[in-house]
Amino acid sequence: MANTTTRPFPVAIPVNSGDIVIRQFQPKDADQVHALLIEGLVYGPESPHNVAQHRNLFGRVSCVAYLGFALGLGCLCRNNIVFRFAGGALTLGATTLFVYMRRMITKMFIHFCARARETDMGDIPHFYDVPLSADSTQSSQPQGPGGFWVAAIESAEDKSSEVVGYLGLDYRAIPDPTSGELRRMIVSMNHRRRRIASLLITASMDHARRHAPPLETLDLETTEFQPGARKLYENHGFSLVGTRIMRMGPLFSMTVLRLRRKVFD
Ligand SMILES: CC(C)(COP(=O)(O)OP(=O)(O)OC[C@H]1O[C@@H](n2cnc3c(N)ncnc32)[C@H](O)[C@@H]1OP(=O)(O)O)[C@@H](O)C(=O)NCCC(=O)NCCS
Repeated sequence: MANTTTRPFPVAIPVNSGDIVIRQFQPKDADQVHALLIEGLVYGPESPHNVAQHRNLFGRVSCVAYLGFALGLGCLCRNNIVFRFAGGALTLGATTLFVYMRRMITKMFIHFCARARETDMGDIPHFYDVPLSADSTQSSQPQGPGGFWVAAIESAEDKSSEVVGYLGLDYRAIPDPTSGELRRMIVSMNHRRRRIASLLITASMDHARRHAPPLETLDLETTEFQPGARKLYENHGFSLVGTRIMRMGPLFSMTVLRLRRKVFD
């Protein structure tokens, strides 16, 4: 297992198909980065969308739907036309509520990814201050506090590069020049628990230290549906500084957690 605190960057973790290197984003990574965003947040195992859907099965609205459905079925069994009519309406209403809720949650997460693509993820070099070569194909180390680190399996044989994780440091997200924000952390579901996220955090922290001052603190946000991510961040010295409720439609909301740590301990 790679040592995440002492190794210089870029580091290389050997894997079957090549080495995992941590480097800056390059324009050729864009499609893979976007695919990983959807996988990490919506469809992959342990994605916040899947966790939210699972928890929603035991949520208040679902319980109301179950109750309505059960009552409706009970009414349908009665030998009275009024009861049967009411039972039909109740079961239909409860089923509609349940399906609507599930579809809405999925829609909200897909919308979140689409918004990301319309904003920072649509132009990563610009938003994260990643300097590109004259022909815009290669990147070099950012000169400012921002940056966007990619973990990629680079094959020496065919020169291919498979993006398996990434993390951005957005220096402009917070108006205070002493604070930066870590954003968009994702690791491919096929490569988790191999310290790739830890390497990405360490790379960004090392970079932030080179820009302190003015950078003094790093913030990040995660949600109640990402307990693994919270543990990861806490392992890296971040602690909870606040929470807020994010409303996602009329029936669904989630708690967003803000974590912070000093650039130097
Ligand atoms: C959260 C995520 C980035 C972690 O990536 P990773 O490369 O697997 O993380 P690491 O291997 O560096 O984990 C280091 C430590 O963090 C903690 N950790 C990481 N993932 C965890 C999980 N799913 N459950 C519990 N603890 C977890 C563990 O303490 C782990 O150490 P261990 O493996 O020795 O127990 C990855 O699971 C992911 O992309 N999830 C979906 C998207 C997401 O939630 N992103 C965060 C956005 S805020």
